[in-house]
Amino acid sequence: MKILNLFLFSSLVFNMSLSVANAEPGVSINLKKPPASLAKWYKPDNKRQVWLHTMFKLRREMQAMREYAEQEDGLHMEKWLTDFDKHYNKISEMVPEWKDEIKPELISDIRNFVKSKDFYKVAITLNKIEDTCDVCHENYQPQVTAIYRSPNYDSLRIKDVDGELQTIENNMQDLSVVVNQILIALADGNNKKSFIASNDLELQLKNLADSCQFCHKNDKYPEARILGKETTGNLKKLQKNIQQGHTKASQKLMGKIAVTVCARCHSIHKVVHDMRGALMSENDDVIKLE
Ligand code: HEC
Ligand code: HEC
Ligand code: HEC
Repeated sequence: MKILNLFLFSSLVFNMSLSVANAEPGVSINLKKPPASLAKWYKPDNKRQVWLHTMFKLRREMQAMREYAEQEDGLHMEKWLTDFDKHYNKISEMVPEWKDEIKPELISDIRNFVKSKDFYKVAITLNKIEDTCDVCHENYQPQVTAIYRSPNYDSLRIKDVDGELQTIENNMQDLSVVVNQILIALADGNNKKSFIASNDLELQLKNLADSCQFCHKNDKYPEARILGKETTGNLKKLQKNIQQGHTKASQKLMGKIAVTVCARCHSIHKVVHDMRGALMSENDDVIKLE
């Protein structure tokens, strides 16, 4: 939702600037950069996504308190309030720069209202706490998700066709070159060349498949969805078609591979990776997207 709002907002700015005569059309959004101390509470600095899991606890505790306030159940209310007190204060313990974003004094207010059984005021105070959640989320949530929870390929190495290790960026450039070698040779009726290149593509995708476990560990399904039986079958069919001189069918299969392998994997991994790169590239306090 928040990300959607951001885009809605950007299109609003875009439309506004277009409506000004002779103005340079453009979009400019300023995003606040989250404090660097947040990194300690995410992988790889931490074993777990501690920040995110604290957030899940806060949401559960808020829900429990709302339900018990409605039922005027002071006993359960106090139990959840004690947990909430601990986790809400964790926000400024984990990220001291965010000390002023929270209002722990509201917790003692709630405690007093529970004691005097004024559950209407309890509900009102819960709303005030919710406001502190909303303000911080509006300012920081999308960029924190993109920076700390998107896949990071920095230390990943993949074998090239000669067995040498390369970065994902170089691997992708090689893949792109080989895909176009096949398409150019097909367009020019050079079957021998397109057949050799199709063997390279097969080997490159096999090497790429070996790298999926770097993140997906023992989970075989993600690899199977993109580089599994279906794809190896399409590559074999491609080679057979090239050998038999079926150019149209070969071109069609290349289109299929581009969509089911390249585009599918990009929509999951590349989009957030690129967003993260854009967010990390600025050194100022604000991130400017133009
Ligand atoms: C893991 C799934 C995955 C698959 C499968 C995949 N890509 Fe990529 N691709 C990525 C990621 C991640 C990036 C961003 C890497 C970076 O910029 O460091 C990328 C980036 C690229 C780039 C831009 C490289 C640059 O210079 O910034 C090209 C071109 C590319 N891929 C081509 C392809 C082609 C062609 C295929 C299919 C034959 C393909 N990719 C299959 C994940 C994948
Ligand atoms: C000082 C800033 C700050 C405050 C205050 C804050 N949050 Fe968050 N919250 C974040 C950030 C940053 C994220 C994004 C974390 C991520 O995506 O890994 C987040 C994410 C969440 C999420 C996860 C959403 C999802 O499904 O991805 C929940 C739930 C959440 N917060 C609940 C709360 C509640 C409830 C409160 C108030 C009691 C609260 N937060 C107060 C900063 C804050
Ligand atoms: C740098 C880490 C990283 C690498 C390397 C990586 N992925 Fe992923 N992938 C992720 C993350 C993070 C998600 C989203 C969370 C999840 O589903 O595990 C994801 C999700 C997926 C999904 C969607 C979830 C599903 O099971 O349908 C597929 C498909 C997928 N990856 C395929 C691949 C393939 C194929 C490769 C290797 C060519 C690969 N990934 C390599 C990090 C990575």
